[in-house]
Amino acid sequence: MRFGSAVLIFVWLMVGPWLSDARAAADREALLTEPSVYGTFAVFALDEGWAKQDPAMRIVRLTSLKGVVEQHREHVTIDLYLLRGLSDHADLLFRIHAAELRQTQEFLLDLKSSQLGKHLKTVGIMHGLTKKPNYVPGFSDQMKTDLKTLSEPGQNPYAIVIPIKKSAEWWGLDQEKRAAMMQEHTAATLPYLKTVKRKLYHASGLDDLDFITYFETSKLEDFHRLVLSLEQVQEFQYTRRFGNPTILGTVKSVDEIVELLAQ
Ligand code: HEM
Repeated sequence: MRFGSAVLIFVWLMVGPWLSDARAAADREALLTEPSVYGTFAVFALDEGWAKQDPAMRIVRLTSLKGVVEQHREHVTIDLYLLRGLSDHADLLFRIHAAELRQTQEFLLDLKSSQLGKHLKTVGIMHGLTKKPNYVPGFSDQMKTDLKTLSEPGQNPYAIVIPIKKSAEWWGLDQEKRAAMMQEHTAATLPYLKTVKRKLYHASGLDDLDFITYFETSKLEDFHRLVLSLEQVQEFQYTRRFGNPTILGTVKSVDEIVELLAQ
């Protein structure tokens, strides 16, 4: 091999992984912020067999989780949450974003057939789609500026997922009436914008829901007050399903999940 080619291979070996990391990070940013991205919330419980596994075998099985996440990270973004102890009959939540729902399906199939997946019982799966804001463009300039406030959920935040279905009556109202009520909804939320980070998914037709709402905050008391405020606005009268289930957990990295579940 000529010296020049050897140098090129050496540089590629050094820089290649960094370049592909940078590309994966860029995709993650786009998938988490752009419209027309599918968001899936998959909730799992560990089966009875899990508790009977010896710790070494648990680590082997948990390592397969890292492998599957790594394998799919170019096409989907995967966020993980520990539900155990906080939500009913559930241990783990995966929030998956993808440009195509079939990419999410491929990840979930590989997860289920992995060593860990054999111990995962599916508790529920919900799908939604991100969209450009429907009502915000018609809001007052002041409200639009207020909505640009950066939300800081704080370190070690909780995540809350609330599915929502609205009534046929809501969908029958004209855009102007709905916009006025959504402006009232937004006004009630502004005091909480700083501590509660949010993301909205539209689910009509993809699930038995209209919306999946997702929040991160370190201040659960703020979140509690926020929901009480929203229950007082007129728009809330058109809600047919709120939660059921409400999913509550803590945001974790894959490594943290491996460590926690290995115990
Ligand atoms: C910091 C807190 C929150 C803020 C700033 C906020 C703000 C907004 C805004 C601006 C919209 C309109 C989006 C558009 O133009 O399409 C919206 C929609 C919505 N929000 Fe909130 N919200 C907050 C909390 C909540 C909470 C706690 C819930 C319920 C659990 C909720 C449920 C919804 C739903 C279901 C919609 C879609 C309504 C529809 O299109 O009919 N929001 N929110």
